[in-house]
Amino acid sequence: MKKQIITLSIGGSLLVPDIPDVDYIKKIAKIFRKHSKKYKFAIVTGGGADARVYARAMRQIYKNEFLADQGAILSTWQNAYLVLAALQDISYKKLPQSFDEAAEALDHNDIVIMGGTIPGTTTDTVAVLLAERIDSKRVINVSNVDGIYTRDPKKDKKAKKLSLMKHEDLAKLAAEKDTRKAGENFVFDVLASKLLHRSGIEGHFISGKKLNDLENAIICKKHNGTVVRK
Ligand code: UTP
Repeated sequence: MKKQIITLSIGGSLLVPDIPDVDYIKKIAKIFRKHSKKYKFAIVTGGGADARVYARAMRQIYKNEFLADQGAILSTWQNAYLVLAALQDISYKKLPQSFDEAAEALDHNDIVIMGGTIPGTTTDTVAVLLAERIDSKRVINVSNVDGIYTRDPKKDKKAKKLSLMKHEDLAKLAAEKDTRKAGENFVFDVLASKLLHRSGIEGHFISGKKLNDLENAIICKKHNGTVVRK
């Protein structure tokens, strides 16, 4: 039977909260390894705090948003290399330079890992574009936030976590937070949300700290995060 492909967008701050969290990287690698008997994984890694630090420095020097983004993209690649290192024996041995290369690599490998691509976007968008390219029907967003809230839970005590929501509602929420600045934090990139919508891809938003939620999202069991669908 053909293996289902699951696409993951993993927040850089989980992989590198301050310095690289090797223990955490090994733990998630173990989960991907275990489930690669049944699924294929297309993994996109975020840049985390380093991306923001580099974007800020590049912006100060160049006063150019494109170049600030390029500085940040390198951090996403650095984090992708960490995940690749933990899975090197079973994954594609390189970080694909393009969506086509990633798609081809997935034909012959169970796990493919990518970083960012072009300036002006985020790895959320890269993950959904990759999901579209490889016909992956499920994207799991693994971050520090344990789901999608009605409002910013850090600022508003009345914020409620949604267990289920529609694509268009996610796109609306993401649009409200969009500033288009390198290293800015969105709930989920507005473009990524719209791409999920146009292709009817199911989105799962879970906390990366809860490894049982990660496993449940992979094997289609109920988890404590948010499911976004039609
Ligand atoms: P991330 O996708 O890591 O952003 O990209 P994030 O969601 O804020 O980070 P995590 O979840 O904590 O890891 C970081 C920055 O890199 C640039 C953008 O400036 C983005 O804000 N970037 C990334 C791009 O320009 N293009 C890409 O394809 C990826």
